[in-house]
Parts: sequence; C-alpha cells; structure tokens
Amino acid sequence: MKIAIINGPNLNLLGKRETNIYGDQSFQDYFSELQFKFTELELTFFQSNIEGELIDKLQEFGFDYDGIILNAAAYTHTSVGIGDAVKGIETPVVEVHISNTFNRETYRHLSYVSPGAKGIIVGFGLRSYELAIQSFL
Ligand code: DQA
Repeated sequence: MKIAIINGPNLNLLGKRETNIYGDQSFQDYFSELQFKFTELELTFFQSNIEGELIDKLQEFGFDYDGIILNAAAYTHTSVGIGDAVKGIETPVVEVHISNTFNRETYRHLSYVSPGAKGIIVGFGLRSYELAIQSFL
C-alpha cells in the first residue's frame, strides 16, 4: 500500500517553530519512526512552502497512491487551489492538523481542504499522522 504525506508551509520548521504548539520533534525524525512502525507500507513524504508545488504533488500522487495525508498548514485556510486539487484527484485524502485548529484563532476554523477530504484528524500532535495512516489500514 502506497501512502504519501504532504506537508505545507512552515512545517519544515517542526521541532524549532512554536514548540509550545507543535512540539519539539522534527518531522524528519517523526517520519523515520513511522517508517519503522509501518514497514509493510510504502511511505513517501513531501514538504513545500510553495502552494503550486503542493498542488503539483497532489496531482502527481493523486492517481497512483492508495492514500494521501495532507497537512496544508496555513494554506488550509486560504487556498481554493489546494481545495480544488483535493476534489479533483482520485486518491482519498485525509486532512490532518497537529494542533486543534478549532480552539485557536477563528481564521483557522475555515478549511478549503475539508470539503474534499475523506476525513479529518485534528489536534493529536504528530500522532495525528499515525492516526491518519491507521484510517487507511
Ligand atoms: C497546522 C494548523 C494551521 O493553522 C497552521 O497554519 C499550521 C499548522 C497544524 O498542523 O496544526 O501551520 O496545520
């Protein structure tokens, strides 16, 4: 089973960025743990700070992979283009967020990803990604 994790802007700073909200582990380190835990899966990871690159990857993975786990980060709340890409591909997308976006600023309550997502996992720290993987199994 092929599962891709796509992370949006500023998530390359995980472990350094607002650690009180996002924790002190880098995503690369966490991704290694996921690969160790789910050896039966073909896990791919992509991160970009650029909206169009995220759309390109959704299109690239979206007709081939069995599942996509998408944390579009700040673009979640602004990007019609990413929302349209999620709706336009065949692979089911699970939207994840590390923090509970619903107990934060109101501008984080709107998601352009959610309408096209298979499901949403929000607020479990980095464990949100593992729960998303479990949802595909
Ligand atoms: C985030 C929540 C977003 O509101 C924020 O812009 C992020 C990270 C999360 O995983 O909690 O960058 O997607």
